[in-house]
Amino acid sequence: MDEALLSLSGVVTHIGAYHILHGVDLTVRAGRVTMLLGRNGAGKTTTLRTIMGLWKPRHGAIRFDGAEIGGNETPDIARRGIAYVPETMGIFSQLTVAENMRLAATGSRFDEARLADVFRFFPILKTKWHDRAGLMSGGQKQMLAVARAIVEERRLMIIDEPTKGLAPSVIDQLIECFREQKARGTTILLVEQNFHMARSVGDDVAVMDNGRVIHAGAMAELAGDEALQTRLLGLSLDSHQ
Ligand SMILES: Nc1ncnc2c1ncn2[C@@H]1O[C@H](COP(=O)(O)OP(=O)(O)OP(=O)(O)O)[C@@H](O)[C@H]1O
Ligand SMILES: [Mg+2]
Repeated sequence: MDEALLSLSGVVTHIGAYHILHGVDLTVRAGRVTMLLGRNGAGKTTTLRTIMGLWKPRHGAIRFDGAEIGGNETPDIARRGIAYVPETMGIFSQLTVAENMRLAATGSRFDEARLADVFRFFPILKTKWHDRAGLMSGGQKQMLAVARAIVEERRLMIIDEPTKGLAPSVIDQLIECFREQKARGTTILLVEQNFHMARSVGDDVAVMDNGRVIHAGAMAELAGDEALQTRLLGLSLDSHQ
């Protein structure tokens, strides 16, 4: 499975008066995990938000599974089988864990097998099922955010910096979850600065700087080349730990 599931070419995005993306070219190959890296402010989140239709591209093409989706409405994009876990996690603090999960599912009932998987990855969510999400710790909220993305089968998961501020044990749980989603055929686009996570799950990598992708290749190649890391990211990936 080597073909592109998602591809961006020449994507230009403005936010208000600011010109943020200057022609992003990005290929996310089917069945693989693509890491999107880059310094703070490089445009990673803006790229993800543009894919999801939360910012509208001014120029360029965004193709998902052969169809042009650039500028489509967010619910239409999500309905194609794309789950998005934003930096801010996007969970509803006032609602219970169960209600948060319910809102993430398009069907009227939960897929019981998938729910069992969610509880296997993140047992704490079963314990907290009827608690308000806002009462949980940061790590537990992140688990809920990812759980919402896997409550149904998805073609593509787009996840923005899930490990920020999390304990190593929670990071390992997330790594296990992402690996299993990939093994089941879900393609993943992941923004992540944690090198352990990036190296553990990444197949391909794209590096952004100043609103463009400046490098694309194999994750293993970048992981093994400190000089390349320093040139592309300003410092070696190890120092992100
Ligand atoms: N709502 C906004 N209004 C104005 N400028 C914005 C807005 N959101 C982002 N930017 C600017 O766009 C640029 C890219 O931001 P973006 O959040 O996409 O970067 P990032 O690569 O995700 O960074 P980080 O690693 O800090 O999350 C930055 O210069 C940022 O200040
Ligand atoms: Mg960001």
